[in-house]
Amino acid sequence: MTRLGILLSGRGSNFLAIADAIDRGQIDNAGISIVISNRAEAPGLAAARARGLATAVIEARGRKRAEQDAEIIACLREHGAELICLAGYMRLLSPEFVVAYPQAILNIHPSLLPAFPGLDAQRQALQYGVGITGCTVHFVDDQLDHGVIVLQRPVPVLDGDDEAALSARILEQEHIAYPEAIARVLSGNYTIADRRYVARASHNASLLEEIK
Ligand code: GRF
Repeated sequence: MTRLGILLSGRGSNFLAIADAIDRGQIDNAGISIVISNRAEAPGLAAARARGLATAVIEARGRKRAEQDAEIIACLREHGAELICLAGYMRLLSPEFVVAYPQAILNIHPSLLPAFPGLDAQRQALQYGVGITGCTVHFVDDQLDHGVIVLQRPVPVLDGDDEAALSARILEQEHIAYPEAIARVLSGNYTIADRRYVARASHNASLLEEIK
């Protein structure tokens, strides 16, 4: 079984979508071994406790990023986490963290990267006036919202959308995209060429099914 480590800072709806997908058997042979938050009051942390999962709070407390991250890495290792899923984790990872888990940290971002990285991606999309935005699941590298893209799902911007309405529709797609991306990565049926995620044959077949 592959053990997942979840990092979150807030609501935790993506974490719950992942946990539900595991419970439904949509992510083969995986389990969440630890949920870590940098904020003790994060609702996602309470939700993890309510599900009986192991949790930890590791706050920044004015420490250097590398020090906080060293504690997080120690906690992840203690719980045997092999794939790390950032789920609304509002801290940049230190280079040491990224190096400790090569191509084994995923993040979800509420835009079609490389458009609108950083905070308030949905507001950025509205302000820019795009017709289509969406969400992206990507590997984490040492730059913000930048690593190899595993999966994207588009969401149209509708007339009259405000930030809340658009965010809600993107979030629905995030909850589909993140479990699917985790399942793909755990299947191991891919290679990475330059910065392109390339699905292997069996995987392409299922993608073609989706397109039909
Ligand atoms: C999501 O929009 C995600 O894309 C972004 O932060 C938000 C987290 O939401 N990285 P939740 O805590 O998973 O509900």
